[in-house]
Amino acid sequence: MTAERARVTVFDTTLRDGEQSPGCSMNQQEKLRLAHQLDRLAVDVIEAGFPIASDGDFEAVKAIAAVVRRPIIAGLARACRPDIECAWEALKHAARPRIHVFLATSDIHLQYKLRITRDQCVAQAREAVAFAKSLCDDIEFSPEDATRTDPDFLCRVLQAVVEAGATTVNIPDTVGYAVPSEFGQLIATIRRRVKGIEKVTISAHCHNDLGMAVANALAAVAAGARQVECTINGIGERAGNASLEEIVMAMRTRPDQYPYETDVVSEQIFAASQLLSETTGVAVQPNKAIIGRNAFAHEAGIHQDGMLKNPLTYEIMTPKSVGVPDSKLVLGKHSGRHALGLRCEQLGYHFDRRALDDIYRRFVRLADKIKHVEDHHLLELIRETHKPATSATPLIEPLPSAKAAGASAPVVNVAPANLPEPEPVKPFPIASHTNPFGAPLPVHSDPHHEHTQQEDYLWGV
Ligand code: KIV
Ligand code: ZN
Repeated sequence: MTAERARVTVFDTTLRDGEQSPGCSMNQQEKLRLAHQLDRLAVDVIEAGFPIASDGDFEAVKAIAAVVRRPIIAGLARACRPDIECAWEALKHAARPRIHVFLATSDIHLQYKLRITRDQCVAQAREAVAFAKSLCDDIEFSPEDATRTDPDFLCRVLQAVVEAGATTVNIPDTVGYAVPSEFGQLIATIRRRVKGIEKVTISAHCHNDLGMAVANALAAVAAGARQVECTINGIGERAGNASLEEIVMAMRTRPDQYPYETDVVSEQIFAASQLLSETTGVAVQPNKAIIGRNAFAHEAGIHQDGMLKNPLTYEIMTPKSVGVPDSKLVLGKHSGRHALGLRCEQLGYHFDRRALDDIYRRFVRLADKIKHVEDHHLLELIRETHKPATSATPLIEPLPSAKAAGASAPVVNVAPANLPEPEPVKPFPIASHTNPFGAPLPVHSDPHHEHTQQEDYLWGV
């Protein structure tokens, strides 16, 4: 019998902390579209904005609260009356409103930014939460810069806000300074020392300045936090926030290490990522985990060979599980004969081993020059290679199906300048005796096979 997994609340702050990153601000229509996508993604909480920050943000939070009814809608407020009143005004018609109050607690912030004493900080936090609680049942409190706050003092502030009615206490690593082991210990200390903490949800809010936001968030969950704050594509102040897709997929892919579950519909991740980058115009780095353009792309021959035999060799999750249409075999100088042969077949050409060898050598020379070989380059190369007048035996033979189909069968000996437009990539044909790329699965036990599996591997990669 499998043990029940603890549920973790996913608090998405793409529309608030994410929006605070340079180039990522969004207008009301854009925020609304994204909020609907976050709803399809089934996040638990959408932090829709910081209502006092601008009229536009106020209206956006209000509009989202009015139409997105399933998730909790949160609005941010500093620990003062005008902010809290403004947040409540924007949120009060939400089906499930939450006011998120924050106040810095580290000595650096108290001394240089707020210019208040520790005692004043405790009093202000307590009063702000009590006031927010008089308006709304669901109150989250964040001690900003918690990870650079004296832990004794942090516990004192948290004690005060729990007594004042906070229902979630969020621990921000505001400047991305923490490392996983100490962040986990901080959560454990809070659980041990703050009275009444068992009645409230502990949350982790991690920034990525040292590239450890996701690791820190997961360490917090392992130590007992039950809410994670994160953003799509990891956008956020400076180096960003913990990325939603990475946290969710880490839990889903490694339940042995992270036995927690979320309600996120992971198949909606890619659509959310695409919508966000289209909306903001901020592209995702190609090697970004889960949703980068290369996250399911393979160029090395050895990897392509493995992928053709079984995707488990080089993929730890399926692209479909995160809404990416398919894995890609990219043809470049690291590619091998197996992937090249498959692509040729998909373009309508079948080569025997000798012919493929010949094409392959030319292909590698070309790839060295132009880096990325597109289908139209490959077709050109095939036509160049297949010159009946200069070759005793034609090296290539278009597949009968391609000949019959007509349209995709290339004209031999067409001068490069007259080449047709690149052909659209055809979907990979999938049959039960093929792998997901449509390549035939290898025969494992035929001793009379012309080449051994090992020879074929060495030849093909
Ligand atoms: O990083 C941070 O401290 C914040 C708080 C407002 C939660 O974003
Ligand atoms: Zn933040």
